[in-house]
Amino acid sequence: MSDPKVLIGVIGGSGLYHLNNLTLVKEVSPQTSLPSGTHVAFVARHGAHHTYLPSDVPSRANIAALKSIGVQAIVAFSAVGSLREEIRPGDFIIPGQIIDRTKGIRPASFFEGTRIVAHAMFGDPFDDPLRGVLQTLVKAALEKTGRDVRLHTDKTVVCMEGPQFSTRAESEMYRMWGGDIINMSVLPEAKLAREAELSYALIATATDYDSWRVSEEPVTVAEVIKTLTTNAETSRTVTETIIEELQAAILKADVVRSAKGSMQYSLISRRD
Ligand code: ADE
Repeated sequence: MSDPKVLIGVIGGSGLYHLNNLTLVKEVSPQTSLPSGTHVAFVARHGAHHTYLPSDVPSRANIAALKSIGVQAIVAFSAVGSLREEIRPGDFIIPGQIIDRTKGIRPASFFEGTRIVAHAMFGDPFDDPLRGVLQTLVKAALEKTGRDVRLHTDKTVVCMEGPQFSTRAESEMYRMWGGDIINMSVLPEAKLAREAELSYALIATATDYDSWRVSEEPVTVAEVIKTLTTNAETSRTVTETIIEELQAAILKADVVRSAKGSMQYSLISRRD
């Protein structure tokens, strides 16, 4: 019997190191490539025991591994700080835009060090059809949990370098720039997914109010961890609830159509 297709890749962020009710078919490391046989490929972004700092996550290997097994859509989870009063710790956010504060620091292209010059379109950094499907499915899944968790959409995520959290002045500046949430992990993942022609969307889960609230203490790891466990548990429930319908949408090609072939007009030249 041939292995079943793996169309969906789930990338877990801080706190989300496994999913529920999955039968583990094969565990692989990106170096071994070509795993197969499960309906969902799961990558713990920071390692199964949280050993990678955000700046050291092997994003190129992670995205290449997902691509190599035939994944077409990536649902990435990430813990984020909130830059807005109405986005409360515990809330879920599906953002539509990114502000990059990691530029030039992390390897962010598969073409770096090659002879190919390529400029991927990145004006809309997330896959819109995938975001649309997720918004509907995640909203319904959250309502089903009965928990007081709001879903916010069309928000802007600031991706900062870290590993230290932001100063109060930086946090306030990001708010003035239009940032709504902040993390250290959506990049270069989203850029690499685009270069690999994979649909990519982020489900962010808020853990704290970062450092902008003058009357409160700035964010600490202890505060992040307090919400992390509940957020991860809700993320697992949501993933379990939506996965079949998400797969159905992908099979109908509603979701992945725009990502396929998206690099067609991005290659300028090949240097010989
Ligand atoms: N991840 C979770 N909370 C964060 C914050 N306040 N800043 C950056 N990354 C985060």
